Amino acid sequence: MMACSEPLDSGGSILVNSGGLRKPRILLAASGSVAAIKFANLSHCFSEWAEVIGVATRASLRFIDRTAIPKDVILYTDDDEWHSWNKLGDRVLHIELCRWADIMVIAPLSANTLGKIAGGLCDNLLTCVVRAWDYSKPLFVAPAMNTLMWTNPFTERHLMAVDELGINLIPPVPKRLACGTYGNGAMAETSTIFSTVRLFFEKKSEQGVYYRNK
Ligand SMILES: Cc1cc2nc3c(=O)[nH]c(=O)nc-3n(C[C@H](O)[C@H](O)[C@H](O)COP(=O)(O)O)c2cc1C
Repeated sequence: MMACSEPLDSGGSILVNSGGLRKPRILLAASGSVAAIKFANLSHCFSEWAEVIGVATRASLRFIDRTAIPKDVILYTDDDEWHSWNKLGDRVLHIELCRWADIMVIAPLSANTLGKIAGGLCDNLLTCVVRAWDYSKPLFVAPAMNTLMWTNPFTERHLMAVDELGINLIPPVPKRLACGTYGNGAMAETSTIFSTVRLFFEKKSEQGVYYRNK
C-alpha cells in the first residue's frame, strides 16, 4: 500500500463529553469520478488514524473495489439508507451519520455531486448527509473530473457556492487523465488528502477548542 503521509505529530485523539479520549470519526465519501478507484487506498490511510465509515454513490460503486476496503470500514450505499427504515421511529441513516462524524471528506467529488451540493439537492445518501451537515464541523472535498468539466463555467459557480458554505477545497492537480488528455482535474494525491485533513485536525487540537491530542 502507498504511504499515507509524512510523519505527523502525536495521535490526535478527540476529547469527548465524558472527558474520555477516542479516535476522530471520519465520514469518507466517494462519488462517481474515475478517481474513486483510489477509495480503498484512502480508506486504509484514514483508518490507520481514525474511525472511518464510508459512503458511496451508485456511480462510484462502478470504480470502487469493495474487497480492498479495510474490514473495519463499513461502506454505506443508498440501499442501506432505505433498508434501515421501515416505519416511524426507525433510524434515519443520513441523520445518524451526520451526528456520528467529526469530519466529512468527499474524495473524489464528481462534477455532478459538486453541482448538487452547490444547489442544495439531496437525492442520495451522500447528498442527504451534506444537506443535513452541521457546518461547525469540517467538510473537505477533493474534486476529480476531466479538464473540460473542470474548466467549464459551472465549476467556478459551484465552487463559489460550496466555499460560501464553509466547505474546504482540496484542489485537483494537472495530470494525464483517464481519458488520455493532459490537464487539470485529477484528484489530489491520497497522501495530500490525508495530510490536509489530519493537519487541520491537529491544528484544531492545539487550539484546544474541542479537540485534544493524546
Ligand atoms: C467511465 C466514466 C468515467 C467518469 N469519470 C468522471 C470523473 O472523473 N469525474 C466526474 O465528475 N464525472 C465522471 N463521470 C460521470 C459521472 O460518473 C456521472 O456524472 C455520475 O452521474 C456521477 O454520479 P454521482 O455524482 O452521484 O456519483 C464518469 C462517467 C463514466 C462513465
